[in-house]
Amino acid sequence: MRPQLILIGAPGSGKGTQAKKLISEFGYNHVSTGDLLRAEIQKGSDLGERVKSILDAGNLVDDQTVLDLLNANCDIANSTYIFDGYPRNLEQSRALDSEVLKGASSKAIYFDVDLEILVERIVNRRVAMKSGEIYNLITRPPKTPGKCDVSGEDLVHRKDDTEETVRNRMNVFIENVEPVLAYYEQSGRLYRVKASESSTEVFEKIKNLITK
Ligand code: AP5
Ligand code: MG
Repeated sequence: MRPQLILIGAPGSGKGTQAKKLISEFGYNHVSTGDLLRAEIQKGSDLGERVKSILDAGNLVDDQTVLDLLNANCDIANSTYIFDGYPRNLEQSRALDSEVLKGASSKAIYFDVDLEILVERIVNRRVAMKSGEIYNLITRPPKTPGKCDVSGEDLVHRKDDTEETVRNRMNVFIENVEPVLAYYEQSGRLYRVKASESSTEVFEKIKNLITK
């Protein structure tokens, strides 16, 4: 089976955008811990109630909760996944290997991006919850303002996409990312992609990397 793909990158670095493109061209399954947590919040489940204020503040949900959610939503023995937003710290990196992948081969792609450009990308993001489409008022506006091109549903401005929360999310990312990168580097699985260019250019680089 081809390697499982692990996307690592700052908020707004393009993980979700590239995951969508990879899925439509190569047919991976997508598992985004952020999307799974937001779905729980939207359902109003106990888990959703418990994590809501954590997401709104841009902090990390505890490792065990996220690991359980991930394991309940992927079947590694039978499918190849794109892990989007997991792992976020060293403990999660180890848990992904020992409790989810369990020996399945994997490649980690780090979206190396100039952090200064990310606040603008994020505050201008609008998302379609059902279709999963990701828009940007500047770089990828919908054809009809406020509506998804694919499903026609109303677009949403994520609650954690305010400038203040984005800055906290960036800090959380910076505090945790280095040991994650070192972990994948040491096991020869880390691939760095410059992710400040257009999403088409970034996609070409990722394609080269996964098809070689
Ligand atoms: P999550 O939903 O994963 O958010 P994130 O990691 O902050 O990443 P984003 O979704 O904001 O960015 P992205 O990289 O997907 O960028 P996108 O493609 O949308 O997590 C949210 C929260 O859930 C966390 O803060 C935490 O509370 C919790 N959580 C999740 N996972 C967890 C875990 N493992 N452990 C603990 N807690 C967890 O692009 C952004 C915008 O830029 C879009 O508008 C897009 O159109 C545009 N864009 C994308 N690429 C380009 C490009 N190349 N050029 C120009 N514009 C671009
Ligand atoms: Mg995302």
